[in-house]
Amino acid sequence: MAKLEIDYCGVKFRNPIVTASGTFGFGYEYNEYVPLEEYGGFSAKGLTRTERAGNPAPRIAETPSGILNSVGLQNPGVEVFAKYIMPELKNSFDTNVIANISGNTIEEYAEMAEILSDTDVAIIEMNISCPNVKHGGLAFGTNASVVEELTGEVKKHCKKPLVVKLSPNVTDITEIAKAAEAGGADGVSLINTLLGMKIDINTRRPILANNMGGLSGPAVKPVAIRMVHQVYNAVNIPIIGMGGVMSGADVIEFMLAGAKLVALGTGMFRKPDLILDVKRDIEAYMSRFKIEDINDIIGQVQLN
Ligand SMILES: Cc1cc2nc3c(=O)[nH]c(=O)nc-3n(C[C@H](O)[C@H](O)[C@H](O)COP(=O)(O)O)c2cc1C
Repeated sequence: MAKLEIDYCGVKFRNPIVTASGTFGFGYEYNEYVPLEEYGGFSAKGLTRTERAGNPAPRIAETPSGILNSVGLQNPGVEVFAKYIMPELKNSFDTNVIANISGNTIEEYAEMAEILSDTDVAIIEMNISCPNVKHGGLAFGTNASVVEELTGEVKKHCKKPLVVKLSPNVTDITEIAKAAEAGGADGVSLINTLLGMKIDINTRRPILANNMGGLSGPAVKPVAIRMVHQVYNAVNIPIIGMGGVMSGADVIEFMLAGAKLVALGTGMFRKPDLILDVKRDIEAYMSRFKIEDINDIIGQVQLN
């Protein structure tokens, strides 16, 4: 039998497949398609300090090989998640829950990490693609020294493994990954969406009500693979890779580039039970190449 188990920051995952935050709700919405226990774990919808209604519609625009979204972090707030949603998930399903947090200030992130530290979440994933209101609204994730400071502060309030989710909208992803590691991150996840825009040429207006949005889906996969490869060679903390996964072959590609866990995201909008195909394909690949333990392929790309 192929060994699929992964140890990620001391947390046991039954297989390397998780889901990307914001594409899987709070998990239970997808349980009717596939039991949540099929996944190694899942990253829940992005949480903020208080409830958010999200952006006006349209929030999604189709593009060749991907989608643009500007959902705007619609969510009930971290306290509702901690008090009601997480206990219910814990009672109903046997899988690892990764809580994803977004903030506008360092203090907000720290408070959320503290609240979630007293719950049963397995890992806290910190989305740093959010505007830093004290620094003119520039995303936290675009400045290495801000990332190091933010990570260091949040770490002080965090009793769970802390994974920093990197933004690809930067010149050098390795600088940001190193800053997260220096701040004390236990892992990094990448990539978040690439900033994009689509215009209706008849009305001359952008399709998204928010004008711009994040690009995800197969269109971003080569960028994600390149960044995972670069980050794998730059830091010593484990990586959760994501961006455009549509098959088991894509998961293998992310693992060869250096990812220890791989997330399904936009691909599930086309095929909600994608996980089943992915697992079947991975097992076929392992038997074809006589790989007994999936851990053996992590970072094993052979450069030309
Ligand atoms: C509709 C939608 C909502 C998302 N919401 C979040 C979020 O709340 N927090 C976050 O860190 N990433 C969020 N993301 C980014 C995804 O988690 C993921 O990083 C990105 O979509 C790339 O993976 P994919 O191409 O497989 O979807 C969202 C993506 C989509 C498409």
